[in-house]
Amino acid sequence: KNRVVFYGEVHGRTLSCAGLGDEVVMRASALARSNIALVKYWGKRDATLNLPAAGSISMTLDGLETRTTVEFGPWERDSVFINDEALEGKGLAKISKFLDLVRPGTLCADVRSTNSFPTAAGLASSASGFAALALAASQAAGLELTPQELSVLARRGSGSAARSIVGGFAIWHEGQKSDGTDSFAEELVPAEHWDLRCVVLVTRKGPKDVPSTEGMNHTMETSPFYAEWLNTVRRDMDGAKEAVFEKDFVRLAEISEGSCLAMHASAMAARPAVIYWNARTLELIHEVRRLRVQGKACFFTIDAGPHVKVFTTAEDLDGVKAYFQDHPSVEDLLVAKPGQGAELL
Ligand code: DP6
Repeated sequence: KNRVVFYGEVHGRTLSCAGLGDEVVMRASALARSNIALVKYWGKRDATLNLPAAGSISMTLDGLETRTTVEFGPWERDSVFINDEALEGKGLAKISKFLDLVRPGTLCADVRSTNSFPTAAGLASSASGFAALALAASQAAGLELTPQELSVLARRGSGSAARSIVGGFAIWHEGQKSDGTDSFAEELVPAEHWDLRCVVLVTRKGPKDVPSTEGMNHTMETSPFYAEWLNTVRRDMDGAKEAVFEKDFVRLAEISEGSCLAMHASAMAARPAVIYWNARTLELIHEVRRLRVQGKACFFTIDAGPHVKVFTTAEDLDGVKAYFQDHPSVEDLLVAKPGQGAELL
């Protein structure tokens, strides 16, 4: 395999190891974890820069990981493998466009990425995927980005990826600037602050949903409830932040379920409607509410798909798991605790 020999400057910064005659291998590996929003992101004010219409808050998930290796070299085209499968078409074009943001000169990239969680489960891998890619690609290109710059870069790939750069509980700032440099995620509190658990209830394996980008754009353009949805976010951000700081489960439950339902209500009111739920999703929403009446600490949240994520405490985890383990509406069950931010391998 050809190795690139690169001397001197990359992106205006001198590579420390680029002494005369040294061969620089432009390769790096990174790991990032998925995240689940407690106050949802649903809509962009700038589609090119992926600037959100409002802020959002999430928990990074331990165990739901993407590992990515990027190498730049003098090849004819970028190649990307996800779980050993070559990516082509639109998917590849999206990654190439993202790589253009850090690509040294005209070099091409070889990208290898694996997800630790079943892709068939329909769980979002774009957050962990673009966070790992942002870190690995920028490092391979010889850039030393600050955590904020990294989050801004990951955001360009997928909005929610901005939050996966950060560990524990993350806040992604809406930002004010038109260049997007102030729309990044940062840690509210580290993973160790609050031992919450997220029980992912997979309701079906099967056909793809309306991708979140499409769903949110369509909602923004056609839903009569979109403006009101945005108002809920602006109200919910401070409350969710306080609930996380104070480890107030009841308050977080109220805000988070409200944010999830308001987001879905806005999507359902779009024309034509965007309905992510199936019958099992609704059944499980009711089950979570029943379980709560029985005294278990739990609340649900749902993203751009039919799966239900149940947050609970470490004490009530076993009870919640037992309740859903063999439930007829649950195809598969995964448990995650708060995870760390993206890291180099
Ligand atoms: C419902 O981050 O996948 O999960 O920025 O277009 O890539 P793009 O969208 P994406 O949207 C996530 C939407 C959500 C809510 C959330 O994670 O905040």
